[in-house]
Amino acid sequence: MSFDECKTALQNSCICVLPTETVYGLACSAFSPKAVDKVFSLKNRPTSNPLIVHVLDHVEASKISYTNKFSEKLAKAFWPGPLTMVLPKKECIPYKISADLDTVAIRSPSHREFRKMLRSVKFPIAAPSANKSNKISPTRYQDVLSEFGNDCPPIVDGGSCQIGIESTVLDLTTDIPEILRLGSCSKEDIESVICCEVNSPEGKCKIDNFTSKSRKSPGQMKKHYAPETPLYIYPSFEKLISDSFSEDSDVILLPSKNYIIKNSGAELTIQYLSKKGDPKEIAQNLYHSLRFLDNFRKDKMFTSLFPWDNGVLSAVNDRLIRASTACI
Ligand code: TXA
Ligand code: MG
Repeated sequence: MSFDECKTALQNSCICVLPTETVYGLACSAFSPKAVDKVFSLKNRPTSNPLIVHVLDHVEASKISYTNKFSEKLAKAFWPGPLTMVLPKKECIPYKISADLDTVAIRSPSHREFRKMLRSVKFPIAAPSANKSNKISPTRYQDVLSEFGNDCPPIVDGGSCQIGIESTVLDLTTDIPEILRLGSCSKEDIESVICCEVNSPEGKCKIDNFTSKSRKSPGQMKKHYAPETPLYIYPSFEKLISDSFSEDSDVILLPSKNYIIKNSGAELTIQYLSKKGDPKEIAQNLYHSLRFLDNFRKDKMFTSLFPWDNGVLSAVNDRLIRASTACI
């Protein structure tokens, strides 16, 4: 499916799928309430969950929101890229996009094809991740096709997404800026640019704060980016590889080939997120690996959280926690 077909869809209040550097997005004109309805409907997304609007740069952002000194500095430092800023919205943004809030989430994606589309249609593009609500975001063309099947809108194939997890969402409408969703743009990255404190949920994504006491049922989770196969989280990767697995029906997700399962009497399906444990590569492969393992339709999936102190791995931990059924 071609770029032109997607462009025509956007211009005619229809929807299409575009690649970004984070994940693929289900795109529509941010000025067309009719097209926004189609996005919510195909995703089965509750209308209470607002969409991100994509623009070329900070000047374009200032046409649809009330920008400020912080947004200007952050855009200079991180745009185009995986940082979404929540700002007071201007009237031109329909309330359907903002879920009746007076704010709008905005980012400028760096993917070449998405930018080409923004230049071509000359209006801002709203795009949530191109997956059914509460499922895993797609990071490859094939993942989008398998997500929507026969209902799939036209897609621009942009290869596999370089970053692999969704953007950092930063609320700039509160007294102290607050990270609402962790991503590859870290709290430290943001603080160093605006020279002030930023609130973040980071601590909750550390292994010490995620124990069987804190996590008993998926119902406790706010959101559930779940694979079909139940995912269980071990207290550490060391504990995971030293356990005895006897079930052929188990699958295991490990950071790198340095981890070798010792006591297995079973034909385990093992997936490595990275060759050598590189954090960027781990993030890049996370969603595709979960989808790949899910396709085996086995009984249980096992992994652990990352103990290493690194911005993007906190975001990976956050997604693993949301994808998990329970911890062990
Ligand atoms: O990397 C990304 O951000 C991808 C690509 C396609 O750009 N998009 C994405 O969109 O992940 P979505 O809809 O799956 O996630 C948007 C997140 C949601 O958690 C939503 O609640 C939050 O941003 N959000 C959107 N507008 C908001 C607002 N006005 N205030 C607070 N949160 C908002
Ligand atoms: Mg999403």
